[in-house]
Amino acid sequence: MDKRHPSSFQQLEKLGEGTYATVFKGRNGQTGAFVALKEIHLDSEEGTPSTAIREISLMKELKHENIVSLYDVIHTENKLMLVFEYMDKDLKKYMDSYHNPNGGPRGALDAPTIKSFMWQLMKGVAFCHDNRVLHRDLKPQNLLINNQGQLKLADFGLARAFGIPVNTFSNEVVTLWYRAPDVLLGSRTYNTSIDIWSAGCIMAEMFTGRPLFPGTTNEDQLLKIFRLMGTPSERSWPGISQFPEYKTTWPVYATQELRNLLPSVDAAGLGLLGQMLQMRPEMRCSAQQALQHPWFAEFQQREAARAGQQAAFR
Ligand SMILES: Nc1ncnc2c1ncn2[C@@H]1O[C@H](COP(=O)(O)OP(=O)(O)O)[C@@H](O)[C@H]1O
Ligand SMILES: [Mg+2]
Repeated sequence: MDKRHPSSFQQLEKLGEGTYATVFKGRNGQTGAFVALKEIHLDSEEGTPSTAIREISLMKELKHENIVSLYDVIHTENKLMLVFEYMDKDLKKYMDSYHNPNGGPRGALDAPTIKSFMWQLMKGVAFCHDNRVLHRDLKPQNLLINNQGQLKLADFGLARAFGIPVNTFSNEVVTLWYRAPDVLLGSRTYNTSIDIWSAGCIMAEMFTGRPLFPGTTNEDQLLKIFRLMGTPSERSWPGISQFPEYKTTWPVYATQELRNLLPSVDAAGLGLLGQMLQMRPEMRCSAQQALQHPWFAEFQQREAARAGQQAAFR
């Protein structure tokens, strides 16, 4: 493995393969710094759609400490290569390899780590939403962690450039587990609230070590959600019968208490989770509201203290 890229990056081991791309670790030939090289697989017939290139180039402007930096976009004849800041692991791998010093179920993280990751996740999401960017595919594989405990959102823009994925490059079906019920119901007018739903699913998964709603098909995914949240009706969700995927034949499930499923989460944490995991998109909290939640009090205080210090130095 010592392939030279057109761009003076030394290509090292493969880091991952996902929906649209293969990602390699790389080394900058000049500085020796590590990077992640994401090679987008393009349909050789069609080439790169110019809209995709425009969307991806926009991501270069999206600079935030909780969003993985895109350094460069290299477009050759039949390949599109994105050069990203290198991160140590994605959250999926992090959870798979995590051993909680306090015990608990396999894959579950400890409470302070979860709170820190959720704070950083919501910071990144809030920044995106403030800049009118939806992520649309938030899941543990698309959240990257470094050895300093920083969490950054990755795998952006492509969803917008190429549409919500159905199949991966290797023809695996894209996971539905983090998809909001309104999207599963066939809504085409979804908005920022779809990312909040995904974030809620991720929060629950960090506590239990298991995906909250591991559905296998669109229908099965909806039913797994209903089994916990209760089957929606015109009474609980006015207008639901107008969705393309609405069925009169759904089994009627009662609403379960989140706390029975997540006994290790404190009352404030359950409160926040309940605001994120709302069936109706307009009922979900925004990322900014989530950041104001009392569950994050210590982070809010730290941030306020830092802002105060900066003001004093000015
Ligand atoms: N900057 C990075 N640093 C380290 N690993 C990365 C980086 N970007 C991606 N990866 C790894 O590669 C996988 C696929 O990358 P991703 O950007 O999600 O591509 P796809 O669009 O194909 O899903 C990720 O799940 C992660 O494990
Ligand atoms: Mg991905």
